[in-house]
Amino acid sequence: MTSSSLKAHSSELKAHKNRLSRISMREQFGADKKRFSKFSVCTDDMIFDYSKNRIDTPSMKALVALAKSAGVSNYRDRMFAGAQINETEGRAVLHTALRNTSGKPVLVDGKDVMPDIQKVLKAMAAFANKVRNGKYAVTEGKITDIVNIGIGGSDLGPAMATLALSPWHNGPRAHFVSNVDGADLADTFKKIEPATTLFIVASKTFTTQETMRNAESARTWLKKQLCKKDVGQHFAALSTNLEATRKFGIDDERTFGFWDWVGGRYSIWSAIGLSLMIAIGPKKFNEFLEGAHQADLHFQSEPYEKNIPVLMALLGIWNRNIWGHATQAVLPYDNRLSRFAAYLQQLDMESNGKRVMMNGKRATSDTGAILWGEPGTNGQHAFYQLIHQGTSVIPCDFLVAAKPQEKMGDHHSLLVANCLAQSEALMIGKTEDEAKSELIASGMSEKQAKALAPHKVFEGNRPSNTFLYKQLDPKTLGMLLAFYEHKVFAQGVIWGINSFDQWGVELGKALAGQLVPMVKDPALAKNKDASTLGLLASYHELKKAK
Ligand code: F6P
Repeated sequence: MTSSSLKAHSSELKAHKNRLSRISMREQFGADKKRFSKFSVCTDDMIFDYSKNRIDTPSMKALVALAKSAGVSNYRDRMFAGAQINETEGRAVLHTALRNTSGKPVLVDGKDVMPDIQKVLKAMAAFANKVRNGKYAVTEGKITDIVNIGIGGSDLGPAMATLALSPWHNGPRAHFVSNVDGADLADTFKKIEPATTLFIVASKTFTTQETMRNAESARTWLKKQLCKKDVGQHFAALSTNLEATRKFGIDDERTFGFWDWVGGRYSIWSAIGLSLMIAIGPKKFNEFLEGAHQADLHFQSEPYEKNIPVLMALLGIWNRNIWGHATQAVLPYDNRLSRFAAYLQQLDMESNGKRVMMNGKRATSDTGAILWGEPGTNGQHAFYQLIHQGTSVIPCDFLVAAKPQEKMGDHHSLLVANCLAQSEALMIGKTEDEAKSELIASGMSEKQAKALAPHKVFEGNRPSNTFLYKQLDPKTLGMLLAFYEHKVFAQGVIWGINSFDQWGVELGKALAGQLVPMVKDPALAKNKDASTLGLLASYHELKKAK
């Protein structure tokens, strides 16, 4: 991967930006009645509308040329073919194989990985069915609750998707514990019956400090609650590290494996999805995989001009590198996507938050934007003020379903209207003259209106994309997630970085390991900077305080 293409294209792209900064989107929409059809893509039951960006046909052509010269399709084909594109970890990147429902083989080092994938999926489905229909019995029979213990990719995907697909949730109650803060486990213990709970320890490495400590504490709690020495029946494991799962005492028949070519943040499609599968059933889980597979086919076959993830990537680069917008908001008008932004934060920021390129040199451009978001309409009454009138421009992705998951009077019409209103307002804005006229029309004096009008101005011209889909169902969710995954991939290629490693999390982990003894015992606090030592001393003092 190389970022020389972005460098090479940047003066042309900046010229387009300079030209477009003199035209408002309001004018562009006024002048071209076909703007929506020109700048939107339809696939299956989903529309991706990107017409509310500061673009036109020539600038889009220039962006597509950038994708071509960066070799996005070449890297894409190498990824799907199992090449070791994760060079810094010497691994292939094949989460796409996990949802390859085509029946076609996928080769890694000459070996077809599909039979192993299908074997695990089959074992997961058999186990999920047993848990769901009460045939997997523990201390007091039927499982009523499952608790997924994991963090990062071993938590965010299943937790987000289980909430998103709750209308299809007909299995045992599902809980998710991730934080090493004992409050997370303690609050969960209050909601579950020990005798009928299954803990699913989800960890690719099975060494992650938070997960291992939570799993150990869950085991201790169970033993105490059930007055039993062996609570192994109450545990299942999802991991690539069978040695460690055995050492923890989890039977191989309740251990579901995956492979080192599945990155943590891309692992919802693997055994890590077991809690989701138990919640919604293997059939619906399969539809979720099918949706992602459809998105993979789209990514592989559509020309860049109609390729949703490539367009998402290019618009992101346009906003980040050419217009200089540092953050990106994701705003689902879908309450059950309330963990969607958190999920995407790991996907996007752990993948593309890199300042060194594949060639070991410092990145020649800015890379991953800061991603954040909350569901609308709640966000409207909190931070949208800044999105509309703040000094920073924040490109937004809006997501909304045509059909609600719940039928409740006119709630969904209100939700959709709010969603469309926000992107319209961001695009169209309100001039000072318009603001002043409105104030005068409402009965204000000319003088008062003149003084207040500047506060009521909306600059407009604020970019957004909108995903409109038929309904938030398993297939749609699978598609959406895969589109975002491929967007992140295409951006990584253009920036010349490796989107599949995460060395940036290591230093903090190592230092936490050093600090644990010092936090436990003040006498051991040494060889640290003055701030850390000062905080340690104050911590030990405050702990003693009444
Ligand atoms: O620390 C970051 C990370 O490695 C993520 O990439 C991963 O999703 C998470 O920790 C959890 O890792 P594991 O599944 O090995 O416990």
